[in-house]
Amino acid sequence: MKREIRLTADGSPTLYVPELDETYHSRHGSVQEALHVFIANGLKPLASKNKSIQILEVGFGTGLNAFLSAQFAHEHQSSVQYTGIEAFPVEEAIWRQLSYFQKPEEKAIYYELMAASWEEPLALNSNFTLTKVKNSIQDWQPKALFDLIYFDAFGPRAQAEMWNKAIFEKLFTALNKGGVLVTYCAQGQFRRDLKAIGFEVLSLPGPPGKREMTRAYKI
Ligand SMILES: C[S@@+](CC[C@H](N)C(=O)[O-])C[C@H]1O[C@@H](n2cnc3c(N)ncnc32)[C@H](O)[C@@H]1O
Repeated sequence: MKREIRLTADGSPTLYVPELDETYHSRHGSVQEALHVFIANGLKPLASKNKSIQILEVGFGTGLNAFLSAQFAHEHQSSVQYTGIEAFPVEEAIWRQLSYFQKPEEKAIYYELMAASWEEPLALNSNFTLTKVKNSIQDWQPKALFDLIYFDAFGPRAQAEMWNKAIFEKLFTALNKGGVLVTYCAQGQFRRDLKAIGFEVLSLPGPPGKREMTRAYKI
């Protein structure tokens, strides 16, 4: 898959995939979107209640959500075990050029995270363990339960198969009771599918440039 580096409105980079005409993040700001959808509305509310949090990310991509989660876990002394699934890993020649972080110590951690071996847990700091899984969500079978799912696939227009109801049935089964799925997507059919599966679906204000996002609970 061909990918090009693009700058988003908050000054942070993203990747553009010409064959899908889709970017990895919001054009309004990649870091801003990730902080809003996945950290402020995903990890933060859970971290205040749970001592230890198992996170699953669908679409690990450039590792931005994983990096920001590791940073949050470190700053808030939460214990996070993070599994990131990715079917089409970003090549090293590309991720080495992504200028998300300017501070040398942040860059070093970002590179460590991106260079981590697949399928092998890596303790990025004393609060955060990362396991990257090279597989498609369709073929992956959960071996443990999760408290929080970051669903960060390309949008339904670009990659409809990622929004198939069967995927969310699998993710529902992979969640602990009380577990949460967050995503930037607020599409009507997607939300109806979540409700039909048994999720309680909540609409939240989206990041800049987007009216709504979705948080869904397994009650
Ligand atoms: C919107 S981008 C992810 C953005 C990522 N979270 C980040 O911060 O860079 C969607 C990701 O889903 C991956 N993907 C596409 N099809 C997939 C599949 N069937 N299973 C798992 N991942 C898939 C893509 O390769 C891409 O990395």
